[in-house]
Amino acid sequence: MTQTSMFPQDAEQEIQSLRDQINDHNHRYYVQDDPEITDSAYDRLMNRLKELETEHPDQITAESPTQRVGAAPLSAFGQIRHELPMLSLDNAFNEDDLNDFDRRVRDRLGNAESVEYACEPKLDGIAVSLLYENGRLVRGATRGDGSTGEDITMNVRTIPSIPLQLVGSDWPERLEVRGEIFMPRAGFEKLNQRAKARDEKVFVNPRNAAAGSLRQLDSRVTAKRPLDMYCYSGGIVEGGSLPTKHADILERFKDWGLRVNPELRVVQGAKACADYFARMSEKRDGLPYEIDGIVYKVNELALQERLGFVARAPRWAIAHKFPAQEEMTILKDVEFQVGRTGAITPVARLQPVFVGGVTVSNATLHNMDEVARLGLKIGDTVVVHRAGDVIPKVVRAVESKRPDDARDIEFPDTCPVCDSEVERDEGEAAFRCTGGLFCSAQRKEAIKHFSARKALDVDGLGDKLVDQFVEKGLVKTVADLFKLTVEQISGMERMGKKSATNLVNALEVSKKTTLARFIYGLGIREVGEATAQSLVSHYKELDAIKAATTEQLQEVDDVGPIVASHIEKFFRQEHNLEVIDELLTVGIHWEQEAEPEEGAEQPLEGEVWVLTGSLQSMTRDEGKAILQQLGAKVTGSVSAKTTALLAGEKAGSKLTKAQNLGVRVVTEDDFNELRAEWGI
Ligand code: IVH
Repeated sequence: MTQTSMFPQDAEQEIQSLRDQINDHNHRYYVQDDPEITDSAYDRLMNRLKELETEHPDQITAESPTQRVGAAPLSAFGQIRHELPMLSLDNAFNEDDLNDFDRRVRDRLGNAESVEYACEPKLDGIAVSLLYENGRLVRGATRGDGSTGEDITMNVRTIPSIPLQLVGSDWPERLEVRGEIFMPRAGFEKLNQRAKARDEKVFVNPRNAAAGSLRQLDSRVTAKRPLDMYCYSGGIVEGGSLPTKHADILERFKDWGLRVNPELRVVQGAKACADYFARMSEKRDGLPYEIDGIVYKVNELALQERLGFVARAPRWAIAHKFPAQEEMTILKDVEFQVGRTGAITPVARLQPVFVGGVTVSNATLHNMDEVARLGLKIGDTVVVHRAGDVIPKVVRAVESKRPDDARDIEFPDTCPVCDSEVERDEGEAAFRCTGGLFCSAQRKEAIKHFSARKALDVDGLGDKLVDQFVEKGLVKTVADLFKLTVEQISGMERMGKKSATNLVNALEVSKKTTLARFIYGLGIREVGEATAQSLVSHYKELDAIKAATTEQLQEVDDVGPIVASHIEKFFRQEHNLEVIDELLTVGIHWEQEAEPEEGAEQPLEGEVWVLTGSLQSMTRDEGKAILQQLGAKVTGSVSAKTTALLAGEKAGSKLTKAQNLGVRVVTEDDFNELRAEWGI
């Protein structure tokens, strides 16, 4: 709906009303996290305002919400001297450092019993200062060296969550607000995906992306970057006043339309600070932005003043850092490991480095495409990343530190273990050893897989022992395991007669198994537990599975052409059939799959379930068997195809994923109720 030919005073009124409405919606959206209108309704207000401003250009002001698109490029940033220096923080690396800090604070305050602290995340972004005069944003500056920063006014004006005009009332005539500009993870991922698609350089992390975006002389570029800001303190305050406690100041900031981190908490004493730290450590990976620690601040400004500063850091605050997730170290060598299916993986041998809370000396390099992408050479200084429980990764090489004698990484022409030829399947990144069970590395892994918990579940057969059996030539195929004698086993390192006898007994017990475990244990490429179970449900007998063709196999639930061809190939190889026969000869057996009783209820037929966390009333394997008996398919990971997640105690990432995907979550109690209903 376009309205024109308006009296100027009507236009002026409508423009003002639109600006007020838009500012109000911005406040609700960015600060209160409680939007009242849809994005499209917001866009309509904005478009109407743009339209009126085009008709009445004399009405355009710098504070108008339309003026965030960026302006003509600057030739250089101006310098800004901070009237009050922007300080840095001392660091604490553990709870002792935190307790020492608290003790120093209490001592200086004359043996104070316990001090009130404001705890807030330490954002990993760029520190900035915003200056508001009579509520209008007049200047934005970087921290620089703390005394002098750069004038980035044009750039901060493009960030949607920074108000150009404060809302509410009672703000000081001159108010400096300080905080951190950052790039949320989601925006960072999207930005890098776009850069990758265009073959442009990607940013190494959100912090660099935020810094690079703010350092643009052309603010139209900044305007396109997903930047955000949380405010964490005041600076200059003239012609007005702020509350007397830090947390209350931030509350006022919110009233004025400034964004403040919602995780802020006020606590009493050092122990409560440590508890906050523990809670945030848990929460860290799930936050939509990166943080690198927690800042504790004495909450009362009067006490802050009494404590004062040392050098460039206040005595009233400290940054408690999380263990770094990225560290530099030296790539000493690259070795090639051969896995169960023959895939040859380059593994980085690193000078040990403490990162993400543990000492890391190896990291996977995945495959040679990855090595090429990283442009690695042996001798390079590399950046190693380890977050949460994830396997450490080499994320980049620091080329400027490359020594003259750095060596290229050469992929072996033949298998590094058995010297067989290597091949690469079409469209695959991995090279494979063609040696099959002739290759001792593949043999070792195949035996470990066959005896693992989810397969034959042989108690007391550790990896080291398997390595020795293979190296001594005692075990050539999995069937040989069952021919081992107590004498042979007790001849191995750190094996006494007693543990040898136990192992022989355990092998005997493991002979009674299920067909699904047996099939899974064979280690056919891409046949996991769920596929093994589907094969058994479909064919019921081993001979039928052995005889099936690639085409027929695709009739089985979830078996596609690639998996089907792996299965057929496996059963067409003479030596695999020999091993299977031998296994049956040594006594491996299972009961015929019970046909579901005629008419037996399968209430979960067609459903896909996942189990996670620890269950109290049953083991996970029992839970799985019950679900299968009820007709459900049980898989290992949550996806859009999952019907329900059975979540026990301490459920972790699978639970979060299910919640995000809107997958039904069933507690153990609920599950037991349902079982009672189903009579199982
Ligand atoms: S307070 C005098 N609070 O950490 C206190 N700083 O080394 C000044 N930072 O450059 C800072 N999150 O950019 C404070 N919640 C937070 C923070 C924070 C990140 C950064 C800040 C500063 C550095 C201190």
